[in-house]
Amino acid sequence: MGYFDHLDLMPPDPILGLTAAFQSDPRSEKIDLSVGIYRNEKLQAEKMRAVIQAEKVLLNEEVDKNYLPIDGCKGEIQGIKRLVFGEDLFEEEGPRIVGVQGLGGTGSIRVGLEFLKKQLGTKVFVPEVTWANHLKLVKYSNLELFRYPYYEENRVCFKKALEAFHKMPEKSVVILHGCCHNPTGADFTAEQWKEISALFLKKRLFPFFDLAYQGFGDGLERDAFAIRHFTQEGHEMAVAQSCSKNFGLYGERVGTLFILTEKPQIATHVLSHVKPFIRANYSNPPIHGAAIVSKILSDPKLKQVWKEQLDEMRLRIQEMREALVKALESKSIQKDFSFMKKRKGMFSFTGLTEDQSYKMIKDHAIYLTSDGRINVCGLNDENIDRVADAIKKVLA
Ligand code: LMR
Repeated sequence: MGYFDHLDLMPPDPILGLTAAFQSDPRSEKIDLSVGIYRNEKLQAEKMRAVIQAEKVLLNEEVDKNYLPIDGCKGEIQGIKRLVFGEDLFEEEGPRIVGVQGLGGTGSIRVGLEFLKKQLGTKVFVPEVTWANHLKLVKYSNLELFRYPYYEENRVCFKKALEAFHKMPEKSVVILHGCCHNPTGADFTAEQWKEISALFLKKRLFPFFDLAYQGFGDGLERDAFAIRHFTQEGHEMAVAQSCSKNFGLYGERVGTLFILTEKPQIATHVLSHVKPFIRANYSNPPIHGAAIVSKILSDPKLKQVWKEQLDEMRLRIQEMREALVKALESKSIQKDFSFMKKRKGMFSFTGLTEDQSYKMIKDHAIYLTSDGRINVCGLNDENIDRVADAIKKVLA
């Protein structure tokens, strides 16, 4: 009897499993609206222009491939810190913000959770609808997973969320989507964020922001509103940032974890406690993607090229979102889809049930996650009508 003979087959990952299924689907008309990857109007997931230019420079500049320090590439951390917190807060609050390079958003969340488990305890609250991997991250970090209400009847149920925050015990870690909530695309408003911030301070709850889509909602500055407001209000908190989407560096695994301490004097101590989790997991982070980000953010011309393309991407998403709602309206479906127009970022909930989502895949070769989430970037002028048609059919 082998040690592993008792193992049964685990279900595929709810998101990345769909990529594998899509790739092996022989139907030529297939459409991928599943995994959160940006695609241009030809549905290609291309390298960003600034990334190509930065790589050319690095080819000449890089003389070795030595280990990075345990906490990663200084240029990446500082550049992202300015981007997330903005220039003013970078100056005013920077000394109390500990930053380490992480392996994308996921790796940054994982290191953050491991660190917080030791310092605060084990209770982690995630929104009732959230990115599927949040659940695994909490579970595999051996933390206690709790949920709070987030979305009902095609909108954020703010009152219910607030009631849940009221009841949470002190020192609970609460995962919040900084912008472009995944999977719904529906965010708290600025006023609601302010209320949440005040309540968290009063109740001593620990905010942990997941910021994977800065630049895809209302632009780089406005998408950072919640994090900057909480920072101004003096929270101790964590932010896990990802460069996967806004730099198109998915496979390079670049991200950043920030821990905001109460006083600047304690920042180096905190850093010294975060580092062992990194060292014991993967020793130190990979160099190439971080060097790209560092190069782009430290060179004003490259930064401009990058920002312009990010804006183009955001506008294309918005156009596709509106075009889909229009196409759905033209099909005379007895259902209102106008809520989708207000969604931010790559994703939108469609309102399709698990069964209907499954039918979209099985009968129409249109891939979306089982919660009815679509990645709007998978749409273009050529396939949008077919998607609307398929939605009509599965709803019939
Ligand atoms: C997604 O939600 O599709 C992305 O964040 C990719 C992933 O790793 O799940």
